[in-house]
This record gives sequence, structure tokens and C-alpha cells, in this order.
Amino acid sequence: MNKWQEMYKEKLTTAEEAAKYVQSGDVCASTCGVGEPPALADAIAERAKQEGLHGITHELMLTLHPLKCYLPEYQDHMSSVHWFIGGPGRKAAQSAKGDYMPAYYKDVPPLWRTYAKADIAYATVSPMDKHGWFSYGPAAGEGRAQMERARVVLLEVNENMPRVHGSQFIHISEVTALIENNVPLPATPEAPLLEEELAIGKHISHMIPNEATIQLGIGGMPNAVAASIMDKRGLGFHSEMFPARAMDLMEAGVIDNWNKPVHKHKSIASFSVGPKKLYDYLDDNPAVEFHSIDYTNNPNLIAQHDNFISINATLEVDLIGQACSETIGPVPFSGTGGQSDFVRGANMSKGGKSILSMFSTAKQGTLSKVRPMLTHGAHVTVSKNDIDYVVTEFGVAHLKGKTASQRAKEMISIAHPKFREELTFEAKKLNLIP
Ligand code: COA
Repeated sequence: MNKWQEMYKEKLTTAEEAAKYVQSGDVCASTCGVGEPPALADAIAERAKQEGLHGITHELMLTLHPLKCYLPEYQDHMSSVHWFIGGPGRKAAQSAKGDYMPAYYKDVPPLWRTYAKADIAYATVSPMDKHGWFSYGPAAGEGRAQMERARVVLLEVNENMPRVHGSQFIHISEVTALIENNVPLPATPEAPLLEEELAIGKHISHMIPNEATIQLGIGGMPNAVAASIMDKRGLGFHSEMFPARAMDLMEAGVIDNWNKPVHKHKSIASFSVGPKKLYDYLDDNPAVEFHSIDYTNNPNLIAQHDNFISINATLEVDLIGQACSETIGPVPFSGTGGQSDFVRGANMSKGGKSILSMFSTAKQGTLSKVRPMLTHGAHVTVSKNDIDYVVTEFGVAHLKGKTASQRAKEMISIAHPKFREELTFEAKKLNLIP
């Protein structure tokens, strides 16, 4: 046994014992997605409730576990702050006891290093190597930034967490205590693609030249795009998220990363969520690297790739091109995430395009997602000054460099035909078109 293995043995404990490091008022910060440590978070919530501690928060981007701190009976003791809303934590984030943090994802590590101090930094990590290092796995976004100023660093070691290539590791000497918990990682099923999604995918496919570098965002639509570009060649991949479809594109040779100016031959991402076969693919795979989110989402790095095409989903867009991708009216639904980071990076890339996609309608076809004005209370994710292309199943609107009047006409042309007359009437009322 080497000295790191001895140190591991000394620091190994149970979740209940590790929870004793937490005090009332502590901020417990986790890295995103599959990096969330469910056994530690639940043990802390349980101790807080049993011992009457209060004011403890569980904070992270994108929760994937149905944790105790989302339940009303725990929230007086441990509540949650969502830096991106989704999955089992959505209800808690929308309730008065939960809270959320507006931020560009690229700014999240710097925020943890300055304004938002973690008292407890915790994460699920892959097993330790012989040199004493644990990989943050495909959850590389902000874990290291959180632990740098934390009073206590707790790890949940899980042999199902892939050990990934890239830059985000933590050393046993930096850790206060650790537990082992070999539960399966949260896996998202692959949903079958809808006809409208494939229509959108086809429109977008025509906008991607061979040898471009692409980014695929979160949600159903970017997956449909990936399925529609199997005939492309020589693509590069630089993204915040590495979805299962990117694996399919790599295995089919569509993405080979040969033409990238930086990180040649490698796909670059910061986190991943998908089926188990995706986690198996990422394990010890030198063709995919994971880096901290302030690195991957830096618009200046994105812009170094000529023909950078960012593809993200949105919830509604108004006639002058303000896009809301994170709330339904005033109700928080997801978050800004890296959408604006990639829109800006793609806008700065020579030959780049940023594409926002959406179905033309919601609520079984009764609501147009092309809106005269954003729904009252909706948050602007992409400003009218940053927006470039918007795509629905009815076509492509190109808004960059267009006047308000031209934008209104472009947007109406991609609305569902049954709403076009009403949208034209509203556009006239708003003096957008004569
Ligand atoms: N008004 C009311 N309801 C709406 C709506 C609107 N304008 N737009 C969508 N909805 C409903 C849908 O009908 C759907 O309801 P259902 O679940 O009952 O079917 C639900 O909201 C989700 O919409 P959908 O289009 O399926 O969302 P998605 O899962 O594909 O995710 C975003 C889309 C925009 C929420 C997601 O991409 C996101 O969070 N983006 C911001 C962050 C980001 O892009 N990061 C980039 C890098 S990862």
C-alpha cells in the first residue's frame, strides 16, 4: 500500500460520520449533474432534520437525484439553491423555499471563487488512481472552483463514475473525508425522435458545412439535429455538454476533430448526461476531454474555431428576436446555462452561426412559440443584439443584421401557418410592419 492509499484508508468513513462536518448555515456546493453526491447530500439533510440544524443549502447546476432536501419536511433544515433548474429539483426550485441563481455558466467557477463561498464542497468522483488522484468524471464544470475555498471537502467515490481525460481532478491530500457508494449513475433514456424534430434537424443540417465545429445543447432538439447530420464529414466538437448523439457521430466518423485549430483530434466538453453506454464510452477515452466550464464556454476560445455552429433549444422568441430559453412566463423552468456563452462565441467565429431551435407551437398546438412580445415575466436568455438564426419545423429566420420590421417578417414566416395572420395583426399594432 503506497502513502496515498494509506491516506485514503484514513479518510474513508460513512455518510453519517461525514455529515457531522456540517454546521447550521453552511453552503454545501456540488459540481453538476452526475457529479452530485446523493448519499452525502441525503445524510446531511437527515442529520440537519434530526438535530434541528437550520439554514443549510445544497447548491448546484442541474440536479439529477431525488434528494431529501427537495421535500417539504426537510426544507426548514436544508433547502436548495439551483444554479440551473431541472430534473427532480424543479419543483423545489419553483417553490418559495427553494431558490435559484441567475448566471452565465461560464461565470459559475469565478463566482464560486469570489462572491459565493462554499463551506462544504462535495462531489461524486471516480475511484482514486495510484498517484492519489480522483477524476471529476463527466461533471467537470465547477467542482474545483468550489473546493478551493471550502472549509471541508467531501467525496463520494463511485466505481461507476467514468475516469475521463481532461483537466479536472482532485487529489486525496485535498480531501477532508470520503465515502464509497457504488450506485448506478443517473441515466437518461434515449427518446424517439418526433417528425417535427426531424424537420428542424433537416433545416439545420443544410446550415452546417463539412469541417465545421459544432456545439449541441441540452433538450430534445439538438439530439434531432445530430441524427440529421450523419452524412457530414470532418466535423469538430466543442461543447458544454457531451450528449449520447455526439458519441454516435464520433463512432460513425462524422466527428473526427481533424480540422480543429485547438484540441485537434479531441472532442471537448464539460459535462455529460445520458444512457449507461455513454458513460462506458467516456471512460478512459482519450478522444473526449472534459474541462472546467469557464474554459469550455469562454467565447474567445469558441471564436478561435472558424465555422463554429452552436445549436441550442429555446422556449419562445418574440418578433424582434429576444429569446426566452429558461422560464415559462415568470416561472423558472431551466436556466441560462451556457446558451449565451455559445451564442456569443459562435457570433465571433469567422463563418460562425448560432442557431436557436424550437417547435412552432406548445400546448398541443394551441400556443404559438413565436410571440408578438415575450410572455409577461419571461426572462431574456439571448438578447435581440446577439440572436442570429431561429429555426422551427417551418423554416429558418435569419435575424442578424436585420431591422425590426425585417425581423418581424422573418419570424412570422417560421410561425405555424394558423398563427401567422394573428402575428401579422399584432406586428402592425406594434408598428413593426406597416
Ligand atoms: N410556453 C409554454 N410551455 C412551453 C413553451 C412555451 N413557450 N415552450 C415549451 N413548453 C413546454 C413544452 O410543451 C414541454 O411541455 P411537456 O413537458 O408537458 O411536453 C416543456 O415546456 C419543455 O419543452 P421542450 O421544448 O420539450 O424542452 P426541452 O426539454 O427540449 O428543453 C430548453 C428546451 C430550452 C428548456 C432547454 O434547451 C434549456 O434549458 N436551454 C437553456 C440552457 C441551454 O441551452 N444551455 C446550452 C448548453 S447545454
